[in-house]
Formats: sequence, structure tokens, C-alpha cells
Amino acid sequence: MKLETPVIIVNFKAYIQGTGSGAGRLAKICEKVAHDTGKNIVIAVEEVDLHRISSMVDISVFSEHMDPIHPGAHTGQNLPEALKENGAKGTILNHSEDRFRIDMLKGSISRAKELELVTVVCANDADTAEAVAAFEPDFIAVEPPELIGGDISVSTSKPEVITDTIAQVKKVAAIPVLCGAGVKSGEDVKKAIELGADGILIASGIVKAEDPEKALRELAEAL
Ligand code: G3P
Repeated sequence: MKLETPVIIVNFKAYIQGTGSGAGRLAKICEKVAHDTGKNIVIAVEEVDLHRISSMVDISVFSEHMDPIHPGAHTGQNLPEALKENGAKGTILNHSEDRFRIDMLKGSISRAKELELVTVVCANDADTAEAVAAFEPDFIAVEPPELIGGDISVSTSKPEVITDTIAQVKKVAAIPVLCGAGVKSGEDVKKAIELGADGILIASGIVKAEDPEKALRELAEAL
């Protein structure tokens, strides 16, 4: 599958508003805003919600994690084939809240390529982004960990993280770069795109918003 850019990826994480019935409500809102604005919106949900959510909406649904395993004797891991059969079109990997050993990251990216699943690999800074670019994921998302979940956006407070990441990744391979952490407003999105990002990765600004539809619409319109 090919993911069009610019894109907004809404990571539902394990927020109560983004799991179980909350995930269903939120997914429908994301689908509605995607339709109304014509913008590309992808959602990433917990593995347990994948099947139900992907059957409910026609926007792409990603997993928040995927293990580098083949079918067989593994316990408690996310099998790529199972994620795909349950509706995943891609997966986030190496999120700040779910760091991966480098060999496992490489393995998951290569398993995703076999199954034509899109990979969005997170990195905390430009150097890490440059390093993981060697594995040629489909996207790299740079997120300064200290800004995640806060109210100060990466594009406003650390624009150099975005521009440095784009420049350093480009030296290795032509991989689109997303950015995230603290994104809350249309202004934040506009700034990120002006800096050269191909989209944003966002969680709390939508999932925990009082009015998620209004919040997402503002971001989508700025994309
Ligand atoms: O995966 C997106 C994320 O880590 C950013 O989180 O809450 O700062 O939008 P947030």
C-alpha cells in the first residue's frame, strides 16, 4: 500500500478515549473529517481494536506496534500476518513509548515490506532518524520525547529538529519525514509543512480534546 502525503496520523495510544468503544467513536470522527476536508487522515489503534475499527471505517488503520516474527511458537507478540488479516495497512514502529532494539526494528521493517505494510518509524532526533533511514522505512517521524503529550509543539519550539532531520535523512534515502509532539493547532501544522515535513503524527491534541472533531478539522484544514 502507498500512503499519500501530506498526511495526519492520529495515534490513539492507550488513552481510554482511544480504546474499546472510545476508539470506535474517535475513528468515526476521523473518517468524517477526512471525508469532509478531503485530507489524508490515518489512525493507529491498539492491536486488540484493529479488526473492529478497520471494519467500521474506510480510512487507513495502522497498528501501534509490530513484532519481527514469522508464524510459529511465539507468545504475546504481534504477528505481522495477523495484523494484516485484521485490517492493518501499516504500523508505527519504535515509538518513544515503545522503543525497539535496533535488530528488531530492522526485522519488523523487512517483514512489513514482505507483506506490503506501510512503516512509520519514530526517532527522537535527527541523528537517530538518519541512522534508521538505512533500513528504508516508508516514513520517518521525528518526535522530541520531552514535548510528547505537552502543549508546546515541535514545529514552534524546535523547528531545527524538523529541518535537521529532513536534511540528514535525505543524505541516506528519499524517505518522507513526519513530525510530532505537542501539536495542537492549525498554526503548528502549517509551520511543520512550511519547514518541509510531509505530515504530522499526533495523539493527545485529538484523542484527549474536549471536541476531537473540531480539533482535527482545524488541523486538517491547515494541512
Ligand atoms: O505518536 C504521537 C505522539 O507521540 C505525539 O503525542 O500527545 O504530543 O500529540 P502528542
